[in-house]
Amino acid sequence: MRYAPPKGTYDILPPAPGRSAVQDSEKWQWLEATFRDLCRLHGYAEIRTPIFESHELIHRSVGEGTDIVAKETFDFETKGGDSLTLRPEGTAGVMRAYVTNRLYIERPVGKLFYIGPNFRYERPQKGRYRQHHQAGAELLGAAGPEADAEVIALACAFYVRLGLRDMKVKLNTVGTPESRAAYVVALRAWAEPLLPQMSADNRRRYEQNALRMLDSKEPQDLELLSSAPVLSDYLDEASQAHFAAVKSYLEAMGLAYDEDPRLVRGFDYYTHTVFEIQSTVLGDKALGGGGRYNGLIEAVGGPSTPGIGFGLGLERVLLALEETGAALPEAVGLDAFLCPLGEAARAACVPLLATLRRSQIACDMDYTGRRMKVMLEQADQCGARFAVILGDDELAQGVATVRDMATKTQQSVALEALATCLSKISG
Ligand code: HAM
Repeated sequence: MRYAPPKGTYDILPPAPGRSAVQDSEKWQWLEATFRDLCRLHGYAEIRTPIFESHELIHRSVGEGTDIVAKETFDFETKGGDSLTLRPEGTAGVMRAYVTNRLYIERPVGKLFYIGPNFRYERPQKGRYRQHHQAGAELLGAAGPEADAEVIALACAFYVRLGLRDMKVKLNTVGTPESRAAYVVALRAWAEPLLPQMSADNRRRYEQNALRMLDSKEPQDLELLSSAPVLSDYLDEASQAHFAAVKSYLEAMGLAYDEDPRLVRGFDYYTHTVFEIQSTVLGDKALGGGGRYNGLIEAVGGPSTPGIGFGLGLERVLLALEETGAALPEAVGLDAFLCPLGEAARAACVPLLATLRRSQIACDMDYTGRRMKVMLEQADQCGARFAVILGDDELAQGVATVRDMATKTQQSVALEALATCLSKISG
């Protein structure tokens, strides 16, 4: 019996020639290290939360009637009868942890980042998975537009640092819950006579959560929506002023953006600023997105606290980097690969490996007693700079033959000097 990975999932594997970036674990380490480093630079500390949370937390935070909750959550019941949901995104769990652990007491402005998997029951395709990974950040306790600008700048800095050349920021505001409520009344009035022409999904959204009609990707809905009222006409003055200040900060930082009055994002928790980062090579799939959510912490039982953050899809940035031909880092190989010939040499290699590793020399050895040619091929495969050959003759003389894998030149080195010699020549 052979098993395939569950639909919409894939394995991340050790690097190998021809392996896609999405499946190459070294590329993931690079992404994660880059994000961690940038977060430290911007004053964010890491938070790790469970990959499942209570059903109610996820459903209420993301919003009943959103596509994620209506169609995409993995919900299950434990043997003890608890209703749980695999997290479809990071924000709800981070807010829950912020409240549970009363982090608002520790630091008035909380700056948290996270990296991890999320689960959505979507139709799998390139760039869309049932388990995907996000790098996210949340800035809590700061209501001013400076916070919005910083968060957007941090997201952009990630792509710039990775070397992604084509990236666009789309920006909008969804205002306060009150201005949105006024807009929804107008949107429903506009939609009612058009319902027979709309998709079944948008007819459902009309009943459950009319704002979410704007999330539709169906061509028949998109055409109708082009004449729908726009939210910006319903914004109160404070929302408009906040949005104007965010834009002026972005301009002051030299960050380009496109205003998109139809961008509302698929979550109910957003207030004021929303943004999405796109790449032309990904079509309508966003690289990342985020926004402000001033009511969410209170909604999950905490004190009234403003917040803003983002989630950046890690599979998608790897796909975009690959498609745009960006230079991705190569796997770092070993310093040395030990090739013992015969039983006695193999036994001698065991303590030798330990000595070399104590000297910080990255090394490995052949454990299978293969022929010299095969061992040298293996040394090449591990990216080793040197093969250290040890046979009966070498053992008798207390030396090893060190072969430079690039130049194919060899030299004899005394065993007790091997660590020093390899450290010196491998720099
Ligand atoms: P989101 O836009 O749903 O936002 O997801 C963020 C990013 O995750 C997307 O832009 C996309 O790159 C990636 N992503 C989402 N679903 C999939 C999938 N099925 N396959 C591959 N990649 C995917 C959020 O999740 C919010 N929590 C962001 C946020 C944080 N807002 C405020 N704070």
